[in-house]
Formats: sequence, structure tokens, C-alpha cells
Amino acid sequence: MQKSRILITCAKGIAPFLREEILQLGFPVLSESVAGVATEGTIEDTLRLNLLIATGHRVLFLIRDFTAHDADALYRSVSEIAWEDYIAEDGYVCVRSIVHNPTIRDSRYANVKCKDAIVDRIKEKRGRRPDSGPDQDRVVVNLYWQGDNCSLYFDTSGEPLSRRGYRKIPMSAPMQETLAAAVIRASGWKGSGHFINPMCGSGTLAIEAALAGLNRAPGLLRDNYGFMHLKGFNESLWKDLRLKSKGDSKKTLDCRIVATDMSSAAVDAAKKNAAVAGVEHLIEFGVCNYSETVVPEGSGVVVINPEYGERMGKIRELESVYEGIGDFFKQKCRGYTGYIFTGNLDLAKKVGLRAKRRIPFFNAGIECRLIEYDLYEGSKKKRDIDAP
Ligand SMILES: C[S@@+](CC[C@H](N)C(=O)[O-])C[C@H]1O[C@@H](n2cnc3c(N)ncnc32)[C@H](O)[C@@H]1O
Repeated sequence: MQKSRILITCAKGIAPFLREEILQLGFPVLSESVAGVATEGTIEDTLRLNLLIATGHRVLFLIRDFTAHDADALYRSVSEIAWEDYIAEDGYVCVRSIVHNPTIRDSRYANVKCKDAIVDRIKEKRGRRPDSGPDQDRVVVNLYWQGDNCSLYFDTSGEPLSRRGYRKIPMSAPMQETLAAAVIRASGWKGSGHFINPMCGSGTLAIEAALAGLNRAPGLLRDNYGFMHLKGFNESLWKDLRLKSKGDSKKTLDCRIVATDMSSAAVDAAKKNAAVAGVEHLIEFGVCNYSETVVPEGSGVVVINPEYGERMGKIRELESVYEGIGDFFKQKCRGYTGYIFTGNLDLAKKVGLRAKRRIPFFNAGIECRLIEYDLYEGSKKKRDIDAP
């Protein structure tokens, strides 16, 4: 296949970090929106992107742009594509769509029309229809239909890239793996200082930090992608890419990663998840209150993702936790940069330290901030004065 547009989708707030990753991998950035970053390359480039991108959600490879006024026009244009060249007769295809067209009330109808056009075309050319359905573990076709403008993509990721495959036990309110990777990038941590993660829950931040510190490709943990099910999948290239990325990854870290939680069930889950990710030996786990977390001498980052509560009673309980985080930062984390990831800015005010930066993110649809505090000797305590 020729070079084409490649759209890498992401969660709201993550695009600037995804853009940076794409540029670092040597790909151009054609455009950026809240929902993703567009680059260009061949279908073989999507193998590398799926393997190495840490903050993106799906790697979509453009098949064709066309116009369609209604469902019949969509069917006709989709039928013109040589699907038999990409999908095996005994293959399986899933169609997903995002539709804003006045003639379509239910996007499932667009899915069905698009899927019919694909399987009818293959039946006509080869005598047998491929199977189809909602499972995203084989060929996935993505339709974006805005007004009369349609773009059809192969979703070369299949399942979203946030499903790295290591989080077997999610615990409560886990952060998506891709969001955790973006938070680490936003903190600027690259493995030279320590990474301290009290309130680690299922361990996502600590595990992503270990993977980033080792320069280990996040995609190595998965063994199924959408591109593997397209005809002509270059398996030897995939093996070479995996091998090269293993060679590029370090075996040990020059820093310490500490992850604690007051829940022993959470720490057990985090340990198991880290073991699946192959980084358990690099993380020092502990069961304790966040304030008892042992912070090594030296410097680095402390990243805390406390609960942010929805009920008033719970929010009142959390006020003292946030106040305590301010004390913990001030008393135990001198020399570090502190970060709180929260969706409740009123609670964040209780920390009482002067915030240096507030980086916007979204988590499960809630607007959040990653708030940065410089914890140099004698950090200014500005309780009730400085609003985050
Ligand atoms: C929002 S969850 C963290 C989720 C985590 N980022 C993940 O990806 O799984 C908050 C965690 O803080 C822990 N926690 C709450 N209060 C705590 C405290 N006082 N000391 C230590 N851990 C606490 C909870 O057990 C929970 O696992």
C-alpha cells in the first residue's frame, strides 16, 4: 500500500504529548485536534506506531476519503473499494463509525450499510462472505462521516492501545494506561530521578514509569493487533521491529520507583499487574498511609492520584487527605517535584502549596488537572491564599 494519512486518536488533553511522541519517532505532524494527531506513512509504518506509541488510543490508516449524501451513496462508494485485497474470505470484520449526517438518525445504520457493502463486494468477487460483528480483535474498519464527507480507515490497533495487556486486576478508579503515560510525560520524568507514587491503586503510574524508564515499547506486551488480520501482513517486519525494540530497551534503572497504597488488596493487584508487565522487580511496593511512604534521599517526582469524590460527605473526608498531602510534600519530599492528579480543584486548594503549573487532562469524562509543586528546601506554604 502507498503512503496515506494516519490518524492516531487519543483522549482529550493528551494530543500535545502524542504529537511530541510522533515527532520523536521521526513522523511528520499534519494536524492536531483534541481527538488525535494526523501523520502520514505506509501500512507498515503503522506496525511501528502501534508498537512504540505510549499515549495514543488507536492508529487509523486512511483507506479513502469520499463524499456521500445518504446511506445508499455510502454503500455505493464503499463497494468500489477492493476489500478482497485486504480481507480474507474466512476473515472477520467489525465496522465502527462516528456519524453526523442529517439523513442518518442512528449510527448503527451507517455501520450496517458500510459492513454490507464490504461483505457483499467480497462475496461477489470470491463467492463467500466474511463474518462480521462487534468484536474488535480482527479487521476493524472505522468510518467518520461528517455532513457529506466520509473517511474510511483501517483501525490497525483493533483493541485500543490503552489495553496494554498487563492490567489483569483494575481495582477502583484505575487510570487508563495511555493517560498514565501522558501524565508521566507531562511531569518530564525520564528515569534520571526517583519516581514515587503513593496511593498507587492498581499500579498504573508506577508500571508506566518503569516501562518509560526502561525505554520498553508499550506494545511489546500485546500479541494481537488489527493489522495482523489484514491480507499481506508483514510478519517478518513485525518480528524485526519487536526484536529491535527489545534491543533498544534497558535492563535496569538508575533510579528507584516506589509505589504504596493503604489497601493491601490494591498493592497485591499492583504487584500482579507489574509482574505481567515484567517490571515487578523494579518497583518497591509497600502497604501504608501515603504519609508514611519512604521517599529516598535525592530528587525526582512524587505523583499522587487521590480520590476526588462525588458525594459531599466523601468530599469533606477528603479535605483532610489533601491537606495532609501538602504536609507530606513539604516535610518529606524536599528536592522533589510534586504532582497531584485530581478532578476536584476545590479539594486541590486544601494542599496549601503554591502551584507552579496546572496541566489540563480528562479522566473518564471529568476535567482534571495535573498540578505541579516545586518542593525545594523551604517550599512556601500558602494555605488559603493561592488557589490552584
Ligand atoms: C484514585 S485511586 C488511584 C488509582 C491509580 N492511579 C490506578 O491507576 O489504579 C486512589 C487510591 O488511593 C488509595 N488511598 C486512599 N486514601 C489513602 C491514604 N490515606 N493512604 C494511602 N492510600 C490511600 C486508595 O486505596 C486507592 O487505591
